[in-house]
Amino acid sequence: MSVCVVIPAAGSGTRLGEPVPKAFVDLGGATILQACVAGVVASGVAERIVVVVPADLVDAAHDLVPDAIVVPGGAHRSDSVRAGLSAAGDADIVLVHDAARPLTPPDVFRRVVDAVDAGHPAVVPGLPVADTLKEVRADGSADPIPVVRTVDREVLRAIQTPQGFTVAALTRAHADDAGLATDDAGLAERCGIPVHVVAGDPLAMKITTGWDLRIARGVLAERRAQAERAEVAEELR
Ligand code: CTP
Ligand code: MG
Repeated sequence: MSVCVVIPAAGSGTRLGEPVPKAFVDLGGATILQACVAGVVASGVAERIVVVVPADLVDAAHDLVPDAIVVPGGAHRSDSVRAGLSAAGDADIVLVHDAARPLTPPDVFRRVVDAVDAGHPAVVPGLPVADTLKEVRADGSADPIPVVRTVDREVLRAIQTPQGFTVAALTRAHADDAGLATDDAGLAERCGIPVHVVAGDPLAMKITTGWDLRIARGVLAERRAQAERAEVAEELR
């Protein structure tokens, strides 16, 4: 089974509010895009990696991730995913993985690929929800906002990426895009393709806000410090 990982990285990062598009923000020695591609490479699943970036940053991305194929993205995330899918070559399985989730551990990629390989056409990583969830009347008419009910969180999962698909399933899902789904599996669901969830990982968190960026930088700084300590310990042996 040949696997292509498509990395949509063509968003502007409005909520992050940095002066450069989100994938090009520095995490401390590497950009979010470089850290993301390094994670994909470390997973060992990908025969081909396609990154989708803003059109004016294609050359810059080539320099940052020379081992990936770089294509220009579109106005919406799903446009960018389709641009990436068209460069997937003769892959059997396509994983769509947000650049904005650069800390995703290798195991998550492997769990998703294994489940698609086992015969599921669409597979997503997900985590149980820790907070109590309440449905509210979010029509903007009142503050404080009235609660409608408490939702049963046992049957809910917070969904991450990489999301894995057979090429046929992802192609069909995107042929029917009405621009409403917030992820690729949502498109698959809308056209009746069964979607299954495997275990996600807290490290597959998405960098959306400045707070998320602080967490990601902190995790990487901790890893670097740990590696340095291990190096010193090795030298002292
Ligand atoms: N993305 C993309 N093309 C777009 C929009 C988003 O490739 N037209 C990518 C982003 O680069 C990101 C992933 O889709 O890796 C998830 O999107 P999101 O976290 O919403 O990132 P942005 O759209 O960049 O952020 P914001 O919505 O805050 O502007
Ligand atoms: Mg967005």
